[in-house]
Amino acid sequence: PEPPLLAGKTVTITAGPTREPLDPVRFISNHSSGKMGFALAEAALKLGATVNLISGPVTLTPPAGARVVKVESALEMRDAALTLAPHSDVFIGCAAVADYRAAAVAEQKIKKQGDELTLTLVKNPDIIAEVAALSTKRPYTVGFAAETQDVANYAKGKLTNKKLDMICANDVSREGLGFNSDHNALTLFWGNESLELPPCSKPELALTVMKSVATKLS
Ligand code: PMT
Repeated sequence: PEPPLLAGKTVTITAGPTREPLDPVRFISNHSSGKMGFALAEAALKLGATVNLISGPVTLTPPAGARVVKVESALEMRDAALTLAPHSDVFIGCAAVADYRAAAVAEQKIKKQGDELTLTLVKNPDIIAEVAALSTKRPYTVGFAAETQDVANYAKGKLTNKKLDMICANDVSREGLGFNSDHNALTLFWGNESLELPPCSKPELALTVMKSVATKLS
């Protein structure tokens, strides 16, 4: 049994990919499996928290005791996040949110046409930046940064630009770690400090992250 470091706290976590529809049968998405976000939810439950898990489309079974909100698109994830964040002590954005969606979703299946097809995409809202910008009832806000190069610098840039309290830098170019794997490694950055967490199973890593977050709450 783990010490109840998060007893009385509510933790809201986003997990998995989003799906951005193009027409009734097609979408744009990514390789996030939800494993890292679901492991964070399980870890927060172990530490005694009340847990909201906002999940994009994944095939995993959610941890018993988590309150699950299923969403598909970034806009749906944003609605759920902005509803729950003001009632949370901690918000963790582990989801791989699509940065762009189709400017218009075709009502009917897009027909095969010429040799090239151009899709127009528009920017999605930045969910975690909106949570971090809440003027009242702002939770302790933790982001993830999935990077394939210059990981620490890009991650620290996201910490600053999105005005987060902590960012978990995830080098997703490392073989056997990151997207869809059972193992991962992270470097946590907050203030002027950092903590490197070497490769281990996602459940183990998630517990270390949640314990680290718990110590930052007043
Ligand atoms: O799900 P798994 O297969 O277990 O893989 C885990 C993971 C690799 C997906 C996870 O560890 C991870 O790194 N998640 C973040 C993925 C991501 O999209 O990162 P980003 O650098 O593009 O986004 C930075 C932060 O902004 C993230 O907290 C993201 O949730 C958030 N964001 C991004 C875009 C957007 N429109 N709104 C957001 O809130």
